[in-house]
Amino acid sequence: ETARAAAAPTSTFTELARVRDKDDHWPTGYSRQILARWGDGLFADSPDFDPAKLDGKAAERQFGYNNDFTHYMPLPPGSTGSEHGLMLVSHEYATPFLMFPELTADDYREKMTEDQIRAVMASVGLSIFEVKKANRRWEIVRDGQYNRRIHMGTEMAISGPAAGDDRLKTKADPVGRTVFGTISNCNGGITPWGTLLSGEEGSMDVFAGDFTTLPNQELVERQGWDEEDNDIYGAGRIEPRFRFEEEPNEWMRFDWVVEIDPLDPASKPVKRTALGRFTHEGAQCAVAPDGRVVVFMGDDDDFEYLYRFVTRDPWNPNDRAANRDLLDNGTLSVAKFESDGTMSWLPLIAGEGPLTAEAGFASQADVVLNTRAAADLLGATPMDAPEGFVVHPKTGKLYVAMTENEDRLPAGEGDAEEQVNPANPRGPNPHGHLLELVPPGGPDKADFAAASFRWDVFVLCGNPAVAEDGALFHPATSVNGWFTDPDNLSVDPAGRLWVATDGPPPEGIADALFVVDTEGEGRALPRLFYVAPVGSECCSPTFTPDGRSVFVSIQHPGELRFEDDEDASSIADAGTNWPDFKEAQPARPSLIVLSRDDSAAVGS
Ligand code: FEO
Ligand code: CA
Ligand code: CA
Ligand code: CA
Repeated sequence: ETARAAAAPTSTFTELARVRDKDDHWPTGYSRQILARWGDGLFADSPDFDPAKLDGKAAERQFGYNNDFTHYMPLPPGSTGSEHGLMLVSHEYATPFLMFPELTADDYREKMTEDQIRAVMASVGLSIFEVKKANRRWEIVRDGQYNRRIHMGTEMAISGPAAGDDRLKTKADPVGRTVFGTISNCNGGITPWGTLLSGEEGSMDVFAGDFTTLPNQELVERQGWDEEDNDIYGAGRIEPRFRFEEEPNEWMRFDWVVEIDPLDPASKPVKRTALGRFTHEGAQCAVAPDGRVVVFMGDDDDFEYLYRFVTRDPWNPNDRAANRDLLDNGTLSVAKFESDGTMSWLPLIAGEGPLTAEAGFASQADVVLNTRAAADLLGATPMDAPEGFVVHPKTGKLYVAMTENEDRLPAGEGDAEEQVNPANPRGPNPHGHLLELVPPGGPDKADFAAASFRWDVFVLCGNPAVAEDGALFHPATSVNGWFTDPDNLSVDPAGRLWVATDGPPPEGIADALFVVDTEGEGRALPRLFYVAPVGSECCSPTFTPDGRSVFVSIQHPGELRFEDDEDASSIADAGTNWPDFKEAQPARPSLIVLSRDDSAAVGS
């Protein structure tokens, strides 16, 4: 208690006790509202939620499944309004046997009806919709002028160095410049000109058929194909393009960063190939002092890398349209960490260094289509599954979450790239860690485009009371405040870092939301703010500019069974049917909003 008082974190809410049950939990003096559930209407003509009647047409008018990336954008555009805004939300994946009562994990692929398959394909992608606050409650504006659903059938353009490449051509698109749909939309980011970047985080498991028939087996292997787990939506049954044998290039048209203009519902989203092809987790933007835009990205797999893209040209704050194709030209780089506290960004440019024509990199298209192999040749630092990236707007520092890597090896064991390194110091690393990256220039002139940064470990996750965890938090961290498996990161208007976890969390707690200072006496002293229902992941906290509301995505509730942490295989078997708790009704991934009853800023 004395140490705690001396540590003086800036947050004063009453910390929760660790809990793991069918419901969610928030601090006393706060209220939690369910704002949008899977199946809720987003348009005036949306049908009511009814899994028994769900088909593609209905799902295209409703909030999708498994919401992950979440961002509140004030309306009118460019304002700082905190009671009327646009919600930009991604729907990462769907689990048919937790959506439809008659299906189970063992037989759903054969049993799904065409309507169910089309409903699933329309329930992933993104939702964009207006929200308004009145009488302290938020609600969806169903006739909002910007409301839009994007899904596996939405037409998109392909731009940048790989556009038009032979490897992106298909029967339906003989010029390699148009693709239908986006898949596995994980986290993302917002550009300075107010477009949404969505990371496609691995799509191969949506495809059916025999991957050994694909033309480039080296690339298939480098992308980490898992033959146990394919055709997860049954899409190959109704659309031949999702069968490898019939359309061997279709899978190459996913796993990019997609740019979407939320202020123009008729606009065509664009896959920006200059940002590379890998399992994109997010795309956090910053602006260098000279006006060039820098996008930070994690490749969320064990031993994969951190990337950065710097635009060739500065952005134009006075002419939004002038930034339309800014992300098509620039430099993609990969991170290499040194033990002296420095790190460098190594440019991935065809023809430079080891990226020769002989090595398979004759053009920039070769580089972006095979980004991981190019990064391998440059000697990038393999990370422990890098996910959330956030730029702290007050200090100019960046925070990066490595979720965990059970396969990380101690020094001297196995392959060199799998051994511990300065930036991933524990082998194995079952609990994850956060790094702090410091660009040169200081808080006001942070040069996010600089060739090298400094770096430090911010926290090593785990239980501080268990020596073998090797955790590193502020010594005054409470028995409730430590965490594991950090995924999404956000910064609130007061400058506090919010950490959302994506388990499997240790005994006694479900995935949760923690608040931690990055500076001052409370640096690295996290406090437990919110706990999600069993089986769900907490995603992407996002704040109104006044700090009074925080929106959080609760993804895949009930996906784990309550008793034993095994994957649920049917609705009857799921860990919870949150948030409606109606018997025999599936759990519904939902967007929630938390606020303080006295209307002060959340987290303070
Ligand atoms: Fe979609 Fe990296 O979690
Ligand atoms: Ca997720
Ligand atoms: Ca994630
Ligand atoms: Ca994750």
